[in-house]
Amino acid sequence: MILGLERMTVLESTKAKKPATILIVDDEENSFDVRKRVLESNGYRVLTAKNGLEALTHVEQKSPDIILLDIMMPYMNGFEVCERIKSSPKWRDIPIIVITVLNDTQTYIRAIDLGADDFLTRPIEPSALLARVRGYLRSRELSREVERVSRLKQDLTDMIIHDLRGPLSSVIGNIDLLSMTANLDSEAKDIAEHALNSALQIKKMLQDMLEVEKMESGSFAANMEITDISDLIKKVLEYRISASELDKVKVNLHGPDSLKQSCDPELLSRVVQNLVTNAIKFSAAGSEINIRWHSENESFFMGVENHGAVIEKKQQERIFDKYFQASKESRTGQKGIGLGLTFCKMAMEAQGGNIQVSSPVPGWDDGIRFEVQLPCPSN
Ligand SMILES: Nc1ncnc2c1ncn2[C@@H]1O[C@H](COP(=O)(O)OP(=O)(O)OP(=O)(O)O)[C@@H](O)[C@H]1O
Ligand SMILES: [Mg+2]
Repeated sequence: MILGLERMTVLESTKAKKPATILIVDDEENSFDVRKRVLESNGYRVLTAKNGLEALTHVEQKSPDIILLDIMMPYMNGFEVCERIKSSPKWRDIPIIVITVLNDTQTYIRAIDLGADDFLTRPIEPSALLARVRGYLRSRELSREVERVSRLKQDLTDMIIHDLRGPLSSVIGNIDLLSMTANLDSEAKDIAEHALNSALQIKKMLQDMLEVEKMESGSFAANMEITDISDLIKKVLEYRISASELDKVKVNLHGPDSLKQSCDPELLSRVVQNLVTNAIKFSAAGSEINIRWHSENESFFMGVENHGAVIEKKQQERIFDKYFQASKESRTGQKGIGLGLTFCKMAMEAQGGNIQVSSPVPGWDDGIRFEVQLPCPSN
């Protein structure tokens, strides 16, 4: 696959390059004629428009790489053209260089306020014009390349994660089946359980990677519905956390038997799963973990707290950052990738809520507490 990618890049770089297109917008032919000649003799393709409407038609149909814009024109002046282009997500990346007369500071300031990228004063020096054009073309090419590479990276990540999920589900299913049906002795059972936990951990990493990417790209919407949170928490403990891990700590539940709250149940379940998994893997065997939940002042709160080392303020500030790990050492020996809390933060924000950290746990000498908050539906 890597070889294929390398070949693709070589092929792309050997493709003949199209000349860049510059759009000159100016109502006076005499005035733009010189600029047109200078640009054409340097290999650029030049389009001209004598008013704002013509300019927008060219932008729509020919996607120029740079616009040289005069301000004083009939049928829509340069300010309006600038505003229209810069307010359109499709066009806003096209650099606009405004042509002004010397000392016309007001025009310059207004054009910059409307999103223009730069300006040139008349009479225009050919070398200054060419230097500006070259500079903007270079940065445009660079940002396109960055975009292309990050799209490629994203596509590859999605493809790898997608392709790994099938075989991984089969590994998980088969180990599960083996430990349930085969007559295994206790040592073999331990080995099967170990393998199952590792496979589940890989599944969680893949899911976190996929969802963090999705949320970052904005292609993710929470599915809010009224849910019994007390039920949700109990189900997470029963079905999403390995029983052997739960056995090593003492989990105390402090909340009502039933509490209805608007949330995305899948997202919130994964947040609880992440917080409890962390609490188990970063605290000593046999220690207590508290899960507390309640509603108060039109907000829902849920906290997960565990004993263990105090996390310094500086580390707390970075704890939700992608791939941040205060310590890679966990009691269980599980090595994560530092995406669990990033996922929790994004998942809470996608539901209109947030997550906070405090360490030591308020009222304790040690430990860490994570608290999520969601707004209660007004009724
Ligand atoms: N309950 C906790 N107690 C102590 N430290 C914690 C706790 N939760 C998180 N941390 C610290 O914050 C870091 C980031 O947590 P996060 O859940 O994002 O990553 P991870 O658990 O290391 O890996 P992943 O969740 O991706 O498998 C952890 O590596 C750990 O140093
Ligand atoms: Mg984690």
